[in-house]
Amino acid sequence: MLAPSLALDWPNLPVVRAEGLFLYGLDGKQYMDFMAAFGVVNVGHNHPRVIAAARKQMEKQVHGAVGVTLHESVLRLAEKLPDILPGHLDMFFFGNSGSEAIEGSIKLARNVTKRAGIIAFTGAFHGRTYGAASLTASKALYRTGLDPFLPGIYHVPYADPYHSSHPDDETKCVEESINALETTLNRLIAPSQIAAIIVEPVQGEGGYVVPPKEFLVRLREICTQNDLLLIFDEVQSGFGRTGEWFAAQAFGVEPDIMVLAKGIASGFPLGAVCAHGDLMNRWESTVHGTTFGGNPVSCAAAVATIDTIREEHLIENAKRMGEHLRNKAMELKRKYPVIGDVRGVGLMNGMEFIMPGTDRQPNAAAAKKTLNESLARGLLMYPCGLNGQVIRLAPPLIITQEHVDKAMNILDESLKSL
Ligand SMILES: Cc1ncc(COP(=O)(O)O)c(C=O)c1O
Repeated sequence: MLAPSLALDWPNLPVVRAEGLFLYGLDGKQYMDFMAAFGVVNVGHNHPRVIAAARKQMEKQVHGAVGVTLHESVLRLAEKLPDILPGHLDMFFFGNSGSEAIEGSIKLARNVTKRAGIIAFTGAFHGRTYGAASLTASKALYRTGLDPFLPGIYHVPYADPYHSSHPDDETKCVEESINALETTLNRLIAPSQIAAIIVEPVQGEGGYVVPPKEFLVRLREICTQNDLLLIFDEVQSGFGRTGEWFAAQAFGVEPDIMVLAKGIASGFPLGAVCAHGDLMNRWESTVHGTTFGGNPVSCAAAVATIDTIREEHLIENAKRMGEHLRNKAMELKRKYPVIGDVRGVGLMNGMEFIMPGTDRQPNAAAAKKTLNESLARGLLMYPCGLNGQVIRLAPPLIITQEHVDKAMNILDESLKSL
């Protein structure tokens, strides 16, 4: 039996096979996967090139204890990543998941600065392990019955344009968040006690929230001025999802540490803490380690994933299809007053449901009904946001215009049935 904490998630769809954009159900039906298995299969399910690379590696060596022994695929991946990462991130610690990489990033920040404080944001989702859950503030449910959390963490409001008290004014929205951050630095914890600010450059689970660029620019400035490390959690926004390799490039802001997972190896378990060698070399020896991290098969799949994204021009496709998808979603917004907001960057898009005629009052029931109706018509999407009132529109980056149109027609039909 599977533990209900995970296995009772919606919709519990029995699937027997997956290929490209599609999942094939036990019911004999084909489903379009518009959540890309939580932003993991950016190159599509079971991409032949990724499968071939993993299979080839499996025949040579499945496991290698990195450090004790070295294998080619982990070195090839470490050689390739700097070409696609922003700035000067050229040294890596590989683990198995997003949460584990988040743990690594805060251990790195605390260990090199010898400071405990960490600033995170409301709406953030950084994972389920204790350090990552301590940083998470997207839903109280994810923290219920788990106290005490890691000490030294302070949450300040994220710059969330749609939910700010000035929804039509990006400048004021940024000010609101930055003022709260400055109040925290002045009244609660001095910068001299802080190791890092950790932020999702586009929030995922918190509601697919795209902040104004100025928010990330100001965080960078505050970190530089106060000698704090800026950590970007690009677990969900990475690997082409935003129409650039990473959101950091989409916004033109460089972090000191970047955390990667999900799309990095197209479904094989892998996470990475990335930093410049000057910083990484200050992480004291053996303070952090792993048994499975940097697994040869996962690393081979990651190398093939990067090559695939590049050679199939998937970043350009994510940008183009994202624009097309948002245009279509905006048409639906004009048609159905239950849609309060459509937002996104690249193929990381959210559609927020509200009670019509109210001031942005969340309507999770309408979102849920739309999800169920769409699933019955062969379109799998998944909710996010505080109340589950946002639907993610985040298909694999291989999607064609024809399939975007087909999915948006299904969404239209589902909305009509509300
Ligand atoms: C932004 C972000 N960070 C971290 C995580 C945790 O990753 P994992 O589930 O691989 O531990 C997630 C997972 O959804 C995420 O979206």
